[in-house]
Amino acid sequence: MIKIIYSKTAEEAGIKAAGVIAEVVKNKPDAVLGLATGSSPLGMYAELVRMNKAGEISFKDVKSVNLDEYVGLTKDHDQSYSYFMHHNLFDHIDIKEENTNLPNGVAEDPKAECKRYDAVIESMGGDDVQVLGIGNNGHIGFNEPSDVFSYGTGLVDLTDSTIDANSRFFATRDLVPTQALSMGVGQIMAAKKILLIALGRGKAEILEKSLFGDVTPKVPASILRFFKGEVVVCADDEALSVIKEK
Ligand code: F6R
Repeated sequence: MIKIIYSKTAEEAGIKAAGVIAEVVKNKPDAVLGLATGSSPLGMYAELVRMNKAGEISFKDVKSVNLDEYVGLTKDHDQSYSYFMHHNLFDHIDIKEENTNLPNGVAEDPKAECKRYDAVIESMGGDDVQVLGIGNNGHIGFNEPSDVFSYGTGLVDLTDSTIDANSRFFATRDLVPTQALSMGVGQIMAAKKILLIALGRGKAEILEKSLFGDVTPKVPASILRFFKGEVVVCADDEALSVIKEK
């Protein structure tokens, strides 16, 4: 079932998305959270930090598994997803460092690292909630449009459109990594609940296509239509503009 939660602004969407996570954690204090990076979850993370500091929620027994990491960036590189998670969430809440997990983007053997990450995900027994953003091309995690849906963690080549989109965070386009390690679509679909955050006019067409078009690996997010549990979509007015027109 897909539930769309409308927000007028991105800020409001972030607060509502944080409410979805807070409910999961309140019902299950040792919940496993599947986390995403990028601009979409920033407001949600800020609100979760606020709630934690205000004593409204605790992450002391929570575990996390992130969707992806760039290949070639060390943990302390300011564009690595490890850095992003520490900077925007982990360093400001009471989660234990040893309970947080991301793929290692500088592992000597990326294939072995994918296997290690598969084992980490397996050992968690499935995410209680998986947070997702959506790429301009419909990717979820870094599962780019393809002829097939992937199952497990993989070494993926980023498409030109993803590299273009992510170049906004780097000084020049050549500095954007061209590969990433990403949780697979099958692992995302094994979560108990999905929280998809879509913000801004740039996501309006792909959001409509994903939620109302054909289910196809050419639009990876479209698989969410076959999700067995609840998919909560927290989106702002701009991201919902094409859906509203139809
Ligand atoms: C990030 C991730 C990506 C992003 C997507 C949207 O961990 O897996 O799928 O969610 O590229 O990025 P933003 O939110 O920056 O538009």
